[in-house]
Amino acid sequence: MKTQEKSYVAHHVDQLKPSGIRRFFDLASKMENVISLGVGEPDFVTPWNVIEASYHSLERGFTSYTANAGLFELRQEISKFLKTEYELEYNPENQVLVTVGASQAIDVALRAILNPGDEVIVVEPSFVSYVPAVRLAGGVPITVNATEEYAFKIQASQMEAAITPRTKALMICSPNNPTGAVLSKQEMEEIARLAKKHDFIVISDEIYADLTYDETFTSFAAIKEMAQRTILISGFSKAFAMTGWRLGYATGPKQIIEAMTKIHQYTIMCAPTMAQHGALEALRNGRSSVLEMKTSYRQRRNFVVKALKDMGLSCHLPGGAFYVFPSVTSTGMSSEDFAEELLQKQQVAVVPGGVFGESGEGYVRCSYATSMKQLDTAMKRMRKFVEEKQIQ
Ligand SMILES: Cc1ncc(COP(=O)(O)O)c(C=O)c1O
Repeated sequence: MKTQEKSYVAHHVDQLKPSGIRRFFDLASKMENVISLGVGEPDFVTPWNVIEASYHSLERGFTSYTANAGLFELRQEISKFLKTEYELEYNPENQVLVTVGASQAIDVALRAILNPGDEVIVVEPSFVSYVPAVRLAGGVPITVNATEEYAFKIQASQMEAAITPRTKALMICSPNNPTGAVLSKQEMEEIARLAKKHDFIVISDEIYADLTYDETFTSFAAIKEMAQRTILISGFSKAFAMTGWRLGYATGPKQIIEAMTKIHQYTIMCAPTMAQHGALEALRNGRSSVLEMKTSYRQRRNFVVKALKDMGLSCHLPGGAFYVFPSVTSTGMSSEDFAEELLQKQQVAVVPGGVFGESGEGYVRCSYATSMKQLDTAMKRMRKFVEEKQIQ
């Protein structure tokens, strides 16, 4: 009889499922002639001046650690940027933490505020890391579903129903991954009212802020009386096409940022030095590159939404980020089956909506951060697939 092998892995880690996005990406990478609309990263290379700044950092011998919270110059520049763009006031001394991507900022934010069993409301469909990150920090994720009926935005009444005496925080993401939904100022004010009434913190992931297409972006921290109960998460990955640089930041109340810095200090020490010099250049002289990329994303968004509608799939117009989230229910298939068959038959990789939470079922996420040529071919292939499905 075979004895069961002992597992040394902690139960709460053992129970986490690997990311559903990776599964499709791995499948696609083993096939030929695949167009991937799967992963959420820019197809642009980081602007050249940013790359050069990083070279110079190395040439000048900046090969040691920086301050734990990040280069003071960079923290100052982040504060300046948030002041100019959104009228936010953060002291670079103790209210800005430079992290290893927005991913690490999310992790330390949760670890800094959660006691075991504290609840965090996560609005789904959501970025795949939120629920696991809450669990890894010892918290309990309470998910609420944002549906297409309300343009994938959570209603205050739904949120209020999810609040309990254990609610410590709410995670929001605007513009949203995967739906592209952008919260209006008025919708944020509704959330703010609940945050005050029930005394919870809001973790606002604003990594796609610079990729908002049709309206002016409002930062949640800029809503009246919210700066003192908001942890703002952002970074350089998306707007500056710097995913591989692993650089993000968090800003918020001094007490929370200092607690986050303590965890960061004992686990990471500091973000990579040459990447921090690159980020400094991105903030100082990278705005025109962001605008150029944004113009291109907007064109691609319009093209893809029209193509999806023309092939008979219902698709709302996303206000930001670089994803569209069409419904595939008219094909009679689950989103998982749709994605799997589309990949096998037409070599187009999309992500099944269910990986972003229950309310994502029936949808697929397509990233349009790919060249127009690739998008054109992908839409033609997808149209063929959908038409065949609808004839059957
Ligand atoms: C909503 C959201 N937040 C955070 C991240 C992570 O960004 P970073 O590369 O800065 O860790 C992503 C990446 O896809 C994202 O979509």
